Amino acid sequence: MPGEKIKITNLYKKWGDVTAIDNMNLTIEEGDFITLLGPSGCGKTTTLRSIAGLEDPSGGQIYLNEKLVFSKKEEIVVTPAKRNLGLVFQSYALWPHMTVFENIAFGLKIKKLPKQEVRNKVLSVLEDMKLKGYEGRYPQELSGGQQQRIAIARMIVNRPDIYLMDEPLSNLDAKLRVDMRSELKELHQRSGATTVYVTHDQVEAMTMSTKICIMKDGVIQQVGSPEEVYHRPANLFVAEFISNPRMNFFDGPVLSESGRKFVNAGGIKLRIDPEVIRDKKAVKVAIRPEDFILTDSGIEYEVTSYLPAGSSNLVYAQNGNDKIAIMFDGSYRVNAGEKIKINVKEELFNLYDIETGNRLF
Ligand SMILES: Nc1ncnc2c1ncn2[C@@H]1O[C@H](COP(=O)(O)OP(=O)(O)O)[C@@H](O)[C@H]1O
Ligand SMILES: [Mg+2]
Repeated sequence: MPGEKIKITNLYKKWGDVTAIDNMNLTIEEGDFITLLGPSGCGKTTTLRSIAGLEDPSGGQIYLNEKLVFSKKEEIVVTPAKRNLGLVFQSYALWPHMTVFENIAFGLKIKKLPKQEVRNKVLSVLEDMKLKGYEGRYPQELSGGQQQRIAIARMIVNRPDIYLMDEPLSNLDAKLRVDMRSELKELHQRSGATTVYVTHDQVEAMTMSTKICIMKDGVIQQVGSPEEVYHRPANLFVAEFISNPRMNFFDGPVLSESGRKFVNAGGIKLRIDPEVIRDKKAVKVAIRPEDFILTDSGIEYEVTSYLPAGSSNLVYAQNGNDKIAIMFDGSYRVNAGEKIKINVKEELFNLYDIETGNRLF
């Protein structure tokens, strides 16, 4: 059983009137790659900096390895240096006047390790990060991607217990960002280090994480595996946020027919367990673009636009006031103006309470 690596209880942080973290409770297990995901300003960086000891929270507790490192009440504040964490930020923050070697060796020299050991460790980590041969260069002589790999090398050479990364790929171009995702994932698989990763990019979160923690206005909305947050978003905010290319929402009136309950989602009748619906008159239905199927018994929609994207195609279609986005595989062809008949793949929809926005089914 993996142990509790990081435990946050009742954490909050206020900046004047702004509540950056609102009563956060979160447990991170050993070996997890957990991503804090949410829109700009939702409190991701403040949370990460609080774990690192760089922020002074207004209340709550933080445990690392089951040891209390922060408690407002008990006035415990363990300094960042004593928390044995590694940090990488969006800006690489390399020292410009030091070579790659010196940048990476810096922390080891402070620890007064023997010269030969420093050299071996730096060269080994450079090899790990595919930067062999670059040790004599200066940061400004390297590309953005290489600089960020050095920032990561500088973190891992110190063998920290926990990796903390705040939008480390945001400054890289799109293609490099995709490559770096797999490098970071491999690094995590090799090292097994518990990692807390911050991003506002849902694809980055989905592809790399073992768990995703979705935040809004300083409040955790859902913690779960990428599959859970994708297929079973806990509320409308998560459903909308984890949405690529977009989620279809319907205000679905509830229909009763001979003791059975149905919800009308854009003309498609979905049979629902009466226990879920109870006496509700309407619910919000969420359906992903890839969860529609073409079928002769389906509801007729007219294609309004066809957006081929190589491996998949997006189709926008309309039926009265209902407009939907459907994702088909790359071989599908259709033209604007054509009629298609669609249904929803069995059970692949989520229902939400219109008032609270919370998932019913
Ligand atoms: N040093 C600061 N002074 C005042 N307000 C801050 C400071 N740092 C962050 N905030 C506010 O706290 C909230 C959360 O910020 P942050 O943790 O940086 O969000 P994120 O990283 O998710 O974009 C925002 O409303 C932000 O404006
Ligand atoms: Mg931030």
